[in-house]
Amino acid sequence: MFSDRLPRDLAANRLASAVESLRSAGRPFIDLTESNPTRAGIAYPATLLASLADARALRYEPTPFGLLDARTAVAADYRRHGLDLSPAHVVLTASTSDSYSLLFKLLCGAGDEVLVPRPSYPLFDYLTRMDLVLPKPYALEYHGRWSLDFDSLERAMTSRTKMVLVVSPNNPTGSLIARDELARLASLCAPRDIAIVADEVFVDYELEDGAAAHAGRPLAVREALSFSLGGLSKSVGLPQLKLGWIGVSGPPALVGEALQRLEVICDTYLSVATPVQVAAADLLRRGAGVREEILRRVRANFAQLEREIKNVPACTRLTAEAGWYAVLQVPSFEPEEELVLGLLSREGVLVHPGYFFDFARESFLIVSVLTPEDAFREGIARVLDHFTRRERSVRP
Ligand SMILES: Cc1ncc(COP(=O)(O)O)c(C=O)c1O
Repeated sequence: MFSDRLPRDLAANRLASAVESLRSAGRPFIDLTESNPTRAGIAYPATLLASLADARALRYEPTPFGLLDARTAVAADYRRHGLDLSPAHVVLTASTSDSYSLLFKLLCGAGDEVLVPRPSYPLFDYLTRMDLVLPKPYALEYHGRWSLDFDSLERAMTSRTKMVLVVSPNNPTGSLIARDELARLASLCAPRDIAIVADEVFVDYELEDGAAAHAGRPLAVREALSFSLGGLSKSVGLPQLKLGWIGVSGPPALVGEALQRLEVICDTYLSVATPVQVAAADLLRRGAGVREEILRRVRANFAQLEREIKNVPACTRLTAEAGWYAVLQVPSFEPEEELVLGLLSREGVLVHPGYFFDFARESFLIVSVLTPEDAFREGIARVLDHFTRRERSVRP
């Protein structure tokens, strides 16, 4: 009866089941995977959402791309990063996931292919599948820093490839696409009529000073049709408001046609609620304080991790330029799944294993640097202590 857009087996994975058991038994643990800013002890001003009650929202004016004021506010927000975008090239959506789905509908028929980075955001498997699109991986490689493996990218391209997804900063590697990488990508995509879709939701959260200024930005691409994805969920820590956006760039004729077609898709769904559109300009302006607090948090935790991990030779923290995550490379005494289950049951710390994000090999642990600082310090101390003890126990 049911479609195969969803996996046949919907059973929870072993880690999720173990978390559920601990929660239902009332057993506390430190959650180093918290990436919901509204649960991470960030101090939101009590009146931050006041503009959602603006009386202008009592009037419904359906517009496929969203209200012009809100689109203008989003375009102005890109200017913080020195990017010039016309409000006419901004499409409002209900989330980044919604943005992906709209773009799959715009560019892909059933069975068409999109190239997805590996390691990266685990939701791509679901997002592509639900739109009957095939995800084909290309590799990001680590050699002290992350870079795009162009051999694997070119090998993955076929006549059915419709877009290349780029996540910059990437979740969880924290890597930004370099300017020369994006230029090379655009020169590969343009002649093949392949679009570039760059998820930039974490771009405000620099972990390495100046990193974002050296990143390639899709809205600066002129050669290939390119899209930048952003949203309130990360830029001002308000995922519950459900406001995302797509910025469109590239050769003017292609941009024009893409917008014309996107308009039909957006008109079919009219998915963005009016109150959040009316409030968008105010939220983007007043949310700056929340963004600063989140930035302080992620940087403080990242620095804390760096200080602590230096004392544990068996473990290293991979270089990250921006975002809300840190990747730890750790010894492989056992498969990652057993490792994270053991850390949860014996040390009382929840971390994610690298294989959730399709790392090419083991063992990597992913932690959220958005975690409240005290919990982060204690959780990291327990994880590192675990490896110090393990190392001692295997040493002859
Ligand atoms: C790379 C990436 N893109 C998008 C999102 C979600 O954004 P939204 O809440 O706007 O759908 C996340 C959430 O973790 C993410 O990691």
